[in-house]
Amino acid sequence: MLYSIDCWMTTNKLLMREGLDTNWDSIPLKGGTSMRLTLVGTGYVGLVAAVCFAKLGHDVIAVDREPVIRGLLENKSKVWEPHLEPELADVMAKGRLRFETSIVKSAADADSLMIAVGTPTRPDGQTELGHIHEVLAQLMQSGTCPPLVIIKSTVPVGTCDELEASLLAAGLHTEVAFNPEFLRQGSALHDFTAPDRIVLGCKTSQAETMLRELYEGIEAPIHVCDRRSAELIKYASNAFLAMKISFANMMSDVCEGYGADIRHVMNGVGADRRIGPEFLSAGVGYGGSCFSKDLQALLTTGKLIGSKLPLLEATAKVNDQRIPRMIAKLISLWGNPLGKRLCVLGIAFKPNTNDVRDAPFLTLLAQCERHGIEVQAFDPVVAHVGAKAVKVMDSPYTAAAKADAVLIMTEWPQFAELDWPYLLHLMRQPLVLDGRNLLPDSMISQIVAVDDAVYVPVGRPMECSTSVREERP
Ligand SMILES: NC(=O)c1ccc[n+]([C@@H]2O[C@H](COP(=O)([O-])OP(=O)(O)OC[C@H]3O[C@@H](n4cnc5c(N)ncnc54)[C@H](O)[C@@H]3O)[C@@H](O)[C@H]2O)c1
Repeated sequence: MLYSIDCWMTTNKLLMREGLDTNWDSIPLKGGTSMRLTLVGTGYVGLVAAVCFAKLGHDVIAVDREPVIRGLLENKSKVWEPHLEPELADVMAKGRLRFETSIVKSAADADSLMIAVGTPTRPDGQTELGHIHEVLAQLMQSGTCPPLVIIKSTVPVGTCDELEASLLAAGLHTEVAFNPEFLRQGSALHDFTAPDRIVLGCKTSQAETMLRELYEGIEAPIHVCDRRSAELIKYASNAFLAMKISFANMMSDVCEGYGADIRHVMNGVGADRRIGPEFLSAGVGYGGSCFSKDLQALLTTGKLIGSKLPLLEATAKVNDQRIPRMIAKLISLWGNPLGKRLCVLGIAFKPNTNDVRDAPFLTLLAQCERHGIEVQAFDPVVAHVGAKAVKVMDSPYTAAAKADAVLIMTEWPQFAELDWPYLLHLMRQPLVLDGRNLLPDSMISQIVAVDDAVYVPVGRPMECSTSVREERP
């Protein structure tokens, strides 16, 4: 069966295949407007938050730079999230969410202003707060600011105190609260409306009351604390999740050395309620815009007070070794990598998102280029990568044509349903590296039934077709 990208991108089909969120109930629209909220930043966090707050009954104005707002109005948002498009259309049609480019104009009558702009890492390891400062500078210049500014962006400990002090120095008596976001891209709407917890870092009971009003309608435990603790909760949470992934990856190397199976090991470990089963999958490592960035920010935070935070250093180091280890495996199977063609399935850093920021794929691509390996890639929702060293194809089968190996980089569930014997038949060499341990045993049996086929998982013994096995001593 051949798939065109349009076919793969047909949202409903995609959701049915991925088995995720298919029972998504549209968020019920609450009656009456309870708060006028201006939200700056319409990226992966801001756009989802804007839609969800509008659904919760608030009157929301979302602000971003002109080209971003134009893109949104022309239905060409850079953000792809399951269910986002219809929910966005719904709140816009009902007049609950509007888009603007002027922060000052949008904030003039707002009860509160939420900031969800990017906070990337600077080359010196510090967090770039320039986008947040830019927003506040406009308000300071105008001489007006809503009574409550809510920082949604992830910021280093002490930032809210500093921002509030600078507003005060400009004569603006505004409280700055911190309300971290824990959504996962790929299930962002679900996570936003059914979070494990809502953290409110604030100074006064008035701010707490306003924040509680904002989230009214969402059933979740609410943790209220001081701003500095809230700022650290966000970093510590991401660092801990990254640490779990690196722990699983470290153990997968031990499993490979001793012929054990990382899936069994981590199932056994994760069954302990004190540990929990999430984020214990071995693979090509974590990516995305948050984990590496937040780990780095926390490391820098520690350094500023003379603390080294060695667990975090080790977490990053283990993660950094995942792609070189995968390339080393490939080269040991190929011999000379020069001129080989690699088919990569999955470009985004995780399934159900089109986000390629800090994706392991990009690290892989750079290393393939260095070794002279040609890359053909396919992703269900990423049709373009700003790099010359890859050809992005419109189906997994065209990406596999004449390839010397196929590598599963992103655990899109539909990759497990491909016609693998046919895909191997299109390749020059039937070598499958399952970088996410995605394929079920039934599919692996079909793969190794193909002549000369080799299936290489992570953290467990590889499987070969009978003909290859016979050649081995
Ligand atoms: N992406 C996630 O999964 C996630 C999860 C939790 C927290 N966070 C944090 O949330 C923040 C935002 O992340 P994101 O992934 O949504 O970022 P993003 O890059 O997707 O979006 C940021 C948006 O802010 C806009 N922006 C920047 N400066 C602006 C300005 N001065 N005026 C108007 N608009 C401006 C940009 O144009 C962009 O559209 C970051 O601090 C991130 O660490 C992200």
